[in-house]
Amino acid sequence: MTSKWSQTLVIYGQRHAILGGRWSHIEVLYDLLKMTIFHNSAMIRKTKVGVWRAWRTLTVRLRCSAVSSSAGPAPLEGNGSSVSDEKPLHTPVMVKEVLHYLNIQPAQVVLDMTFGGGGHTKEILNTVPEVTVLALDRDPSAISLAQQLAKQHPGRVKPLLCRFSELEASLCRLEVKPGSIDAVLLDAGCSSMQMDQAERGFSLSKDGPLDMRMDAERYPDMPCAADVVNTLDQQALASILTAYGEERHARKIASAIIEARRVSPITRTQQLASVVAGAFPPAVIYARKDKLHRASHVATKTFQGLRIFVNDELNELLAGLRAAQAVLKPGGRLCVITFHSLEDRLVKRFLQGEDLSNLDHFSQRKHSKSKEKTLDSRSRSSNSSWIPLRKKVIIPEKDAVRDNPRGRSAKLRAALRN
Ligand SMILES: C[S@@+](CC[C@H](N)C(=O)[O-])C[C@H]1O[C@@H](n2cnc3c(N)ncnc32)[C@H](O)[C@@H]1O
Repeated sequence: MTSKWSQTLVIYGQRHAILGGRWSHIEVLYDLLKMTIFHNSAMIRKTKVGVWRAWRTLTVRLRCSAVSSSAGPAPLEGNGSSVSDEKPLHTPVMVKEVLHYLNIQPAQVVLDMTFGGGGHTKEILNTVPEVTVLALDRDPSAISLAQQLAKQHPGRVKPLLCRFSELEASLCRLEVKPGSIDAVLLDAGCSSMQMDQAERGFSLSKDGPLDMRMDAERYPDMPCAADVVNTLDQQALASILTAYGEERHARKIASAIIEARRVSPITRTQQLASVVAGAFPPAVIYARKDKLHRASHVATKTFQGLRIFVNDELNELLAGLRAAQAVLKPGGRLCVITFHSLEDRLVKRFLQGEDLSNLDHFSQRKHSKSKEKTLDSRSRSSNSSWIPLRKKVIIPEKDAVRDNPRGRSAKLRAALRN
């Protein structure tokens, strides 16, 4: 028993060294707690009290910080969500920078291509008088928030339920002419409301159906993440995880998924998270770090890859950029916020005027610098339709990331329509 105890201490030490995040501390304490419950030596009995105490303090502290944290939005329950100024459903990223680069003037027309929780739109309405915002989103729940906001600001918010790829047709129906919009904002990815609602199936930390579709209500027949993991073959799964998740262990994970679904279909988010975790030794499950050096689950990239695939996010982003180019007037401004390198690379090259008819090379992880250069010089057009408002990518300030950790990987690019 003593050896088991010292073994646990060694594991404790190793984990403590490997993992930095607060959840990893919980795990470690939990392991110790289990040990101390089932063993009865004098030394362990003494430690038990200390471990219990530490466990209690930690969970209380975490519960308090979860309640008081203003960074993450409150989870939505049922249809009770509403657009209010007091409690943002999604904390908007780089608001100050977006307002600066869009430089919206009174009475101008703005297109918010990603309304989400309306964070950016509300800031625009509150900052610029008489501005009109076309509030677009593919998610019907975001559009119902836009409808509420439209009631609060009569005539100033026009909700538009559609995908980027459907935008030009929708604007045509609204009789909005090409080249007539003053400013466009595209804040890519998914919103906190989508991430935080377990039943949407985006989050690996909340158990829910493995769905991940942003507009399942509109397109119920579109395949969800569970369809993808339960039907595609190992090679196709591995390609998705490599291409869209930039996952180095894609083949190993795909093989674990195939093995697991032989026993029973993978239908829940946490079921998938454990299948992925099962492909790795326990010590590495939280060994990866995010940009804030917090422990991140080994299935994070798998979830990202599936989400991008299910929602066809890269093609949609390209369609969105093309639509923005068509609707902006000369001199109009575009701000695009992205959250991972695949998206940012695409935006950067689009603004440089590169021919993006073939998106394949965006999803290749190992992209040597020289190959990139050849590709750039071959396909970049010298007469791009855009003038960068700042050459370098804009990232959030340190304080902003501390207040809203979800914005930690945000990158903003701003350009003027030529
Ligand atoms: C990061 S959130 C935007 C948050 C918003 N700026 C705010 O401050 O609340 C991204 C939103 O874009 C929407 N979206 C993503 N891809 C889309 C697409 N292809 N067409 C339309 N909306 C899309 C998502 O449904 C989500 O609500």
